[in-house]
Amino acid sequence: MNKTRAAITAVGHYVPDNIMTNADLAKIVETNDEWIKTRTGISERRILNNGEPSSFMAVEAIKMLLERRGITADELDMILVGTVTPDMLFPSTACIIQEKIGASKAWGFDVLAACSGFIFTLITGAQYIESGMCKKVLVVGSDKMSTITNFKDRNTCVLFGDGAGCVLLEPSEDPDYGIMDSILRVDGKGGKYLYMKGGGSLNPPSHETVENDWHYVFQDGKFVFKDAVKGMADVSVELMEKNNLSSDDISYLVPHQANMRILTACADRMGLPQDKVMVNIHKYGNTTAATIPLCLSEYWAEGKIKKGDNLVLSSFGAGYTWGAIWVKWAY
Ligand code: UT7
Repeated sequence: MNKTRAAITAVGHYVPDNIMTNADLAKIVETNDEWIKTRTGISERRILNNGEPSSFMAVEAIKMLLERRGITADELDMILVGTVTPDMLFPSTACIIQEKIGASKAWGFDVLAACSGFIFTLITGAQYIESGMCKKVLVVGSDKMSTITNFKDRNTCVLFGDGAGCVLLEPSEDPDYGIMDSILRVDGKGGKYLYMKGGGSLNPPSHETVENDWHYVFQDGKFVFKDAVKGMADVSVELMEKNNLSSDDISYLVPHQANMRILTACADRMGLPQDKVMVNIHKYGNTTAATIPLCLSEYWAEGKIKKGDNLVLSSFGAGYTWGAIWVKWAY
């Protein structure tokens, strides 16, 4: 008997209207457009208003998805949210979104895997389709990175932005389409190079945590850069070899958008030309769990993804967490 495969059947996204350019940042910290563009590929990023949380962007992205698919929220069985910037530590952002969109029959939870949040959440959601437990699983990546970005630290504040993206998973009508295979990994030894130290049970909020900027992202950029290039490229090539996929077979690499130089290095190792790499880093920076679904939604809307296209989704982030997924586009 053929196994039930999970397929992506709709996509949606949202970015705030407010644009922060490299020139805007150069007024706040000692940096410049030239440095940011050549070292990262970023020209601008979006910043969400104060008082609007990650769930706000998620809900806007979900509205787009539901309209495109022609379904209502009460048809959803499950809501999974990848985020490092939940509205609050609990209840989960999945519960908050469930109430806001009126998904009366859905259950769900948040997944914490930082920049790999979307790919980990996607594979989690696929299990519920493959097992037959759910028929419609909403997978969301939403991060308001501006709330944990230290705008006094030029090493990190130029990198991040706010945004959300989502996909719908349903049983594939044809088992030759959908989420075909994945390789996912974690290595806690990487924890010390990229983290947010304050706010959890180890360092609960206090005057000390605030004074020491422990509620912001810390990153040893150089170290993470080297590990990200190797981790993302190794796992993507391993997935290709495991499934006998040549570079000609692949329509797009859909990489997490942390640094343009990482994307290029990964594509080079996979033997892919630059026009087979989905890119939105120049417009949005690193939106953490949102980068990949944002790319999928924008490229799909532009008619650049076709049924049968082979995509390799690939990511590397805090934890360390990393992995790659082979998707055969189903619609
Ligand atoms: O998404 C999760 C995973 N994260 C990543 O994959 C990010 C990985 N890391 C990176 O993308 C890069 O390491 C960064 C973009 C963060 C930094 O780029 P880099 O080429 O590794 O620069 P660097 O940290 O080695 O810094 C080079 C120089 C330093 O000056 P000196 O010591 O050479 O005088 C920095 O102080 O650039 C300086 N610098 C800046 N200059 C202008 C650092 N940040 C800035 C800045 N503007 N914003």
